[in-house]
Amino acid sequence: MNQIKIFSPATVANVSCGFDCLGFAVNDIGDTMTFTKTEEKGIKITKITGANLPYETDKNAASGVALSMFEKHPVDFGLEIEIHKGYAPGSGLGSSAASSAGAAFAVNELLGKPFTQLELTKFAMLGEQIACGTPIADNVAAAIYGGFILVQQYYPLNIIKIPVPSELILVAIHPQVEVKTKDAREVLPEEISLKKAVTQWANVGGLISGLYTNNYESITNSLKDIIVEPARKHLIPYFDEVKKTALKHGALGASISGSGPTIFALCKGEETAKKVHQQIDELYQKTGIDYTMVLSKINTQGVTILESN
Ligand code: HSE
Repeated sequence: MNQIKIFSPATVANVSCGFDCLGFAVNDIGDTMTFTKTEEKGIKITKITGANLPYETDKNAASGVALSMFEKHPVDFGLEIEIHKGYAPGSGLGSSAASSAGAAFAVNELLGKPFTQLELTKFAMLGEQIACGTPIADNVAAAIYGGFILVQQYYPLNIIKIPVPSELILVAIHPQVEVKTKDAREVLPEEISLKKAVTQWANVGGLISGLYTNNYESITNSLKDIIVEPARKHLIPYFDEVKKTALKHGALGASISGSGPTIFALCKGEETAKKVHQQIDELYQKTGIDYTMVLSKINTQGVTILESN
């Protein structure tokens, strides 16, 4: 294989109660990236569209990931990378993770697949380190594995893939305000009470159980975050109003996507999802704040090959 074009999905991390350990992939938005082998050695970013991101090999998440893979698996060729960002960085929908996961997947294909999905996740985490300073796995694992994933532990890294109920649909709104992950982590409580911890981990258990058994009632009862959402929601304009609207019109649950500012709602079935989408749209139109919206199925495949030769 000399060239590969891939699609790498956007992702929703945390999924309400699962701070830093749960995530899922979004079907309809993501990055499209092309990786081409070259005779000249070295890794070059030749084109980036859709966002203003660094071209320097060690500063760009995608090329940084490729560099670390070449260090582990020496090659006698070079690489050119083209990146088309399909949605805005800083949205809370795992933008750097899409590029990092896409790079890990594509380079592995060009190398003849020497690495496992778990190893690719570890490489992609290095891209997260480059882009946001912390090697978090929740977004990158969701982009690589597809569907819902649980980062069960970091040392050693253990990723558990969780089934996706077929009627689950995502509605998300991205208000065009900046929320830096670093800032959103600084507002978090350093300690929490045992009572809150019990409620939160019981909800994670209930959510996972609901996803495994297609039990939408259990999903609804468990999509609650009593620790992180209350600490962060003031960073997102009209968060309470959006959440209330989503729940009023039938969403199973709604919360902050990753560290924000995107707010996501999970719905059962397209009809409810369309209604929730329309109602949030109407609400936000009145705020005067620019925004974009998404209505999408859950992506169950992770990064996929669009073309190769
Ligand atoms: N889980 C992280 C956070 C963001 O909420 O800060 C995504 O990695």
